[in-house]
Amino acid sequence: MRPLSEIYSGDEYPQVLVGLAEPDDAAVYQLDSGRAIISTTDFFPPVVDDPYDFGAIAAANALSDVYAMGGRPLMAINLVAYPDDLDKGILSEILRGGAEKVKEAGAVIAGGHSITDAEPKYGLSVTGEVETGKIIRKSGARAGDVLILSKRLGTGVITTALKRGIAAPEHVGEAVQSMSRLNRAASELAQRHGVRAMTDVTGFGLVGHGLEMARLSQVNFRLAMESIALLPGVAEHAREGVFPGGMERNREYYSQWLETDGTLAEHEYGLLFDPQTSGGLLLAAPLERAGALLAELVAQGEDAFVLGDVVAGPGKIVVTKS
Ligand code: CO
Ligand code: CO
Repeated sequence: MRPLSEIYSGDEYPQVLVGLAEPDDAAVYQLDSGRAIISTTDFFPPVVDDPYDFGAIAAANALSDVYAMGGRPLMAINLVAYPDDLDKGILSEILRGGAEKVKEAGAVIAGGHSITDAEPKYGLSVTGEVETGKIIRKSGARAGDVLILSKRLGTGVITTALKRGIAAPEHVGEAVQSMSRLNRAASELAQRHGVRAMTDVTGFGLVGHGLEMARLSQVNFRLAMESIALLPGVAEHAREGVFPGGMERNREYYSQWLETDGTLAEHEYGLLFDPQTSGGLLLAAPLERAGALLAELVAQGEDAFVLGDVVAGPGKIVVTKS
């Protein structure tokens, strides 16, 4: 197949400010001199047992890519797949969870499409807006910037433990809260504090998504393993080797661009590649703004923490113990 980027050459579509040429969290299309629309979609099978929570998480996750561009969601379309014999009460709980989350984001669900499928799936197609001068891309991080993550890590580990029937209910509860949380406040604060580059940490894990930023910014990201905050229960399950299949795939692919000082334990490697669902925003903040940004993130209830900094380099992730 001819690659899409050849069929749609960037030169022919100058209105596409962010598209296939330099893929980012979402596509951005310029409307006039000041405004652009953001478009993105995501959907997946249930990650938790409660249908309402699943709907809320899937919606928060789909909305997140708008926030990751520095934008504001306006409108969403439901994308639904479910087996014919699924209890309609379950389906309506999934949709209610999604609808209330979209409303919380200040956006509206304006339509949808459903198909029959053996395994239920839910998500959204989201349209948002951003001022053209305020788009925050993955590129733009500079040496000296401070790296902040707005949510704790480890949702892949906890949802895997849940599937295996070994997760403590309170650990699942904390993970659900984290995954359901909108990245809105983090995105707004990033705008206000001049964050230079950002993305949301999702399926490719911390290293995969961090690497995209580092490469596009042509810098190295230096992370301190001991600074990485984990959700409750994650460290224990990780030591037991409880990881989703996606962790190994991420590790196999991204390891080649990861440098460590040789002190990391096996489970710590796994955590660096743990696929996240509705993860936090990874922010590259100017050094002089990072302290105020972190304080405001925490004041707004985010589980934000500094996990490293940006240094000169060819586009790698460097992880040390501390
Ligand atoms: Co993203
Ligand atoms: Co996505």
